[in-house]
Amino acid sequence: HIARVTLDPAAVVAPVNRRTFGTFVEHMGRCVYTGLYEPGHPSADDDGFRTDVLALTRELGVTTVRYPGGNFVSGYRWEDGVGPRDRRPRRRDLAWRSIETNEVGIDEFARWATKADVEIMYALNLGTRGVQDALDVHEYINQVAGTHLADLRRANGADEPYGIRMWCLGNELDGPWQLGHKTADAYGQLAAATARALRAAEPDLELVVCGSSSSSMPTFGAWEATVLEHTYDLVDYVSCHAYYEEHDNDLGSFLASATDMDHFIDSVVATADSIGARLRSKKKIHLSFDEWNVWYLTRFQSQVRADEWQVAPRVIEDEYNVADAVVVGNLLISLLRHSDRVTAACQAQLVNVIAPIRTEPGGPAWRQTIFHPFARTAALARGDVLRTDIDGPSYPTVRYGEAAVVDAVATHDVQTGDVAIFVVNRDESRPVQITIDLSRFDATVSRAQAWTLADDDIRASNTVGDQDRVTLRPNRKLSIHASGAEVVLPPVSWTVLRCS
Ligand code: AHR
Repeated sequence: HIARVTLDPAAVVAPVNRRTFGTFVEHMGRCVYTGLYEPGHPSADDDGFRTDVLALTRELGVTTVRYPGGNFVSGYRWEDGVGPRDRRPRRRDLAWRSIETNEVGIDEFARWATKADVEIMYALNLGTRGVQDALDVHEYINQVAGTHLADLRRANGADEPYGIRMWCLGNELDGPWQLGHKTADAYGQLAAATARALRAAEPDLELVVCGSSSSSMPTFGAWEATVLEHTYDLVDYVSCHAYYEEHDNDLGSFLASATDMDHFIDSVVATADSIGARLRSKKKIHLSFDEWNVWYLTRFQSQVRADEWQVAPRVIEDEYNVADAVVVGNLLISLLRHSDRVTAACQAQLVNVIAPIRTEPGGPAWRQTIFHPFARTAALARGDVLRTDIDGPSYPTVRYGEAAVVDAVATHDVQTGDVAIFVVNRDESRPVQITIDLSRFDATVSRAQAWTLADDDIRASNTVGDQDRVTLRPNRKLSIHASGAEVVLPPVSWTVLRCS
């Protein structure tokens, strides 16, 4: 196979949004407990946070972290997680049929976020709770001082308000599995009332209304339209959630998952814009793709769980392989190329639960395969996202029809002149020789580097016993010329090239 990627510095989509590289911490399984928090672990700091996990979180390049759920949040009482630890109640978590000890609450998580140098995106409980509770937790988190809940926070050790900007108006309330599941009308009215109340407290918050929990929901599209009819002028974002997996050994379709994400994003943008047009509004709603990843969901749904009502059970600790990492890298390509409308995104989740970082209680923390494309994209995507013109072969897929073998996106940093090209080869057996055409750029190319994630065994993964089996390696099949570069992409691979 051969392919050509032509780039034009004038074809700018939008600046790279740092919030594209968000993640998600839910009180679920071992994400919090024995994930990021484990007092007694050899690496734990004075607050009980695992410093090995903190170091990997920083290395991952995460920016924004959605917290505390997820399905969990729809039954959560935030006040259980503040104040003296020995008085915090143990509660049932009905979403995951686990026990929540409340050892970690917003004050601890805010401390962790400061150490990890990340911004919190706070999700409100609009499942079993409503406007008053949203105002209360907002007062606790963001009010300066001199009111009951702001002073409670100060008494609990946090003098300064946390200043959280982004607030999610509930989680997946279109889903029948969600505690407090609602019709689009009922949710739209509650979200509007909550948004109005929050804006009365702090007008310039950034508010995210729930879109569909997947594009395969029967209400997809209609849900967004109805909810936005109620909330268009009151919110900034509508959320999108999508999880991908390989069905029926159909690797070809799985590798093309990003075409589905592209379509999902385009559909939600079109739906939001049609409501805007009907309302004669000049405002554009942005997309917060605040749950996305590979998740072996079918396997999880078919499992009988023997660990119910336990503290921090092992739930959905998927072990990712090379193909999964290529798909994750490709999903980031999709998010980046929509940077004009997708201005926030969270990979779900950060630690242990469908996560790039894995830990063992009392033991090591390590990088799953999917860690690598995320970390390298977060590190190298700088400046503006460029539209990418790709001329290459295609292949038939069962789910998505004819799909491109090569998918790519590029960023251009006008300050440094660096161009980064993120590219996948979805072919299962053949390499692709790819030419990057930079002839439309003023400067000639003097340096290029490329790193590739690939393996002869595309099912290879990183395990506690072999933590670096799959990693990024310099791609030696790289040549440069004045107006571009050429590189060979192995079958089922993710590559980044940096040219300057
Ligand atoms: O990330 C796991 C779960 O997926 C979240 O709790 C929920 O919002 C989604 O269905």
